[in-house]
Amino acid sequence: LLQRGAQLLGPASGEQACGEVGTGRMVEPAEIVTAVIGSFTPGALTGVKVVVTAGPTREALDPVRYISNRSSGKMGFAVAAAAARAGATVTLIAGPVSLATPAGVVRIDVVTAEEMYAAVLAAQTACDILIAAAAVADYRAKTVVPQKIKKSGASLTLELVPNRDILASITAQSPRPFVVGFAAETERLLENARLKLERKALDVVAANSVVNAASGFEVDHNALTVLWPDGSAELPLMHKTLLAERLIELIVERYRAKSRS
Ligand code: CTP
Repeated sequence: LLQRGAQLLGPASGEQACGEVGTGRMVEPAEIVTAVIGSFTPGALTGVKVVVTAGPTREALDPVRYISNRSSGKMGFAVAAAAARAGATVTLIAGPVSLATPAGVVRIDVVTAEEMYAAVLAAQTACDILIAAAAVADYRAKTVVPQKIKKSGASLTLELVPNRDILASITAQSPRPFVVGFAAETERLLENARLKLERKALDVVAANSVVNAASGFEVDHNALTVLWPDGSAELPLMHKTLLAERLIELIVERYRAKSRS
């Protein structure tokens, strides 16, 4: 079937009915539906090169410890898959996550924010749209201790230094790709997201509240408020596969509008 050009969906991986974890799950029905619908519509991103960042980064403290965050990479991977289904040539730059590479996507694995910075910089020269879903660590240890830090009775102070902002570096370049950032916020969602849009000179920002346990980090569902310089849209709580699909549709609209202007 594959030789005859059939598209293979799955098997997906994750927890199985028998309790084991691995490849062998049925693909989520929502994903099957969107793939079937997608196969009847010409790709809105055919011929467009998209770079997606996803997952957390890890900043080492010593050989056994690191600083990281709760990003699972699910949203970024769903966005990469949706962009590929829309016909884009997709490069996915992923921090340490345990997720299968979406079909038709080229994946580059990185660990630290510095590695992600270098990978994005190398990939963006041939990129039309950059979608930065990764939760990049803002700080790293000033010095990575070469041996395991031993405990003592005293309190321990870690000195952290700021990491470079990947998005801000990309938007400072000329020419630059169309840039979509994410903003995960615990308070003042709209205000903080709008500030990020302006401060980092983004074309679009996708903001989500990470206070609610039903959406955001680690879970399969999310809701997004999408902002651009002269407009906004609400994408209500839904499965990340569908949400990524809707987000890609919005990005295509904004990307086309900017190309026309
Ligand atoms: N980002 C980035 N490089 C960094 C930090 C963040 O490119 N060093 C990107 C993220 O991938 C995301 C966007 O910037 O698309 C916003 O990330 P977020 O962590 O929400 O914002 P910060 O700019 O780090 O601001 P703050 O932590 O103060 O909310």
